[in-house]
Amino acid sequence: MRRDHEFAPPYPGEVLARELWTRTRVGLGERGTPFDWHAVFGRDARRVVDLGCGNGRWLIHSALARRDVDHVGIELVPPAVKMASLRAGQRGLTNLKIAWGDATEFILERAAAESLDEVHLYHPQPYYDPTKRARRQLTPAVLLAIWRALRPGGLFVFQTDNAAFARYARKIAPALFEWRELATPWPDAPKGRTLREIEARSRGLAIVRAEATKLALEPLEAERRASSQPEPDFDADRPAFARRKSARRGGRGR
Ligand SMILES: C[S@@+](CC[C@H](N)C(=O)[O-])C[C@H]1O[C@@H](n2cnc3c(N)ncnc32)[C@H](O)[C@@H]1O
Repeated sequence: MRRDHEFAPPYPGEVLARELWTRTRVGLGERGTPFDWHAVFGRDARRVVDLGCGNGRWLIHSALARRDVDHVGIELVPPAVKMASLRAGQRGLTNLKIAWGDATEFILERAAAESLDEVHLYHPQPYYDPTKRARRQLTPAVLLAIWRALRPGGLFVFQTDNAAFARYARKIAPALFEWRELATPWPDAPKGRTLREIEARSRGLAIVRAEATKLALEPLEAERRASSQPEPDFDADRPAFARRKSARRGGRGR
């Protein structure tokens, strides 16, 4: 795995003395087991989830800035989980846990209705290969699950540097959310909230950032609206630099 500091600014916060490090890994247990926030954090606070948190840069930034908010990041790739949990633990955080697992399964099956305050999805993989499109992290079912899991007025934050993915999110999200795009970088992290954002900006890619507020709808109406949205079977328009990289690797790509 690429080391984070090769091209990115340092992680937020400071590494504490070793005796102050915290344990920030959390297991998800059997598939479908509801996530027990109270048992994990020992309190009832506002709750934030990052679906596919990568190396956890944004979560660490947010958890340091908002000690009164509990955060969970779910990530599929073990080295990223290790990096995120190590960096969070070195900062002594007690309001952030990192779980190895499938974030889609988490939001579909482990998040109780109206139990979360924010759900963040930064730079979901576009999956250029048509045979992998089913792995895309935003679908009408996931959008509905996010809507359901959020408390009234809850926030869905979405960000991508893939133009086709941005068009798709812009098309389906307004069915269940009030969708607002930001014209400028996040004021709380002007250089970028996540590693992928920093990397994409260094390559000159345009970033689409949106904050979407849960619409007040009856659950049946939300289901009806979600079911009329298209599946994410769009062509992700692999950018030229990624085409060159994939050609060098013999055509394998995400
Ligand atoms: C392009 S990276 C972005 C990482 C991070 N959000 C960022 O912006 O830097 C996409 C991440 O999503 C993770 N991912 C993809 N599908 C996932 C899933 N179903 N569950 C959890 N993580 C997933 C990948 O392993 C990868 O770390």
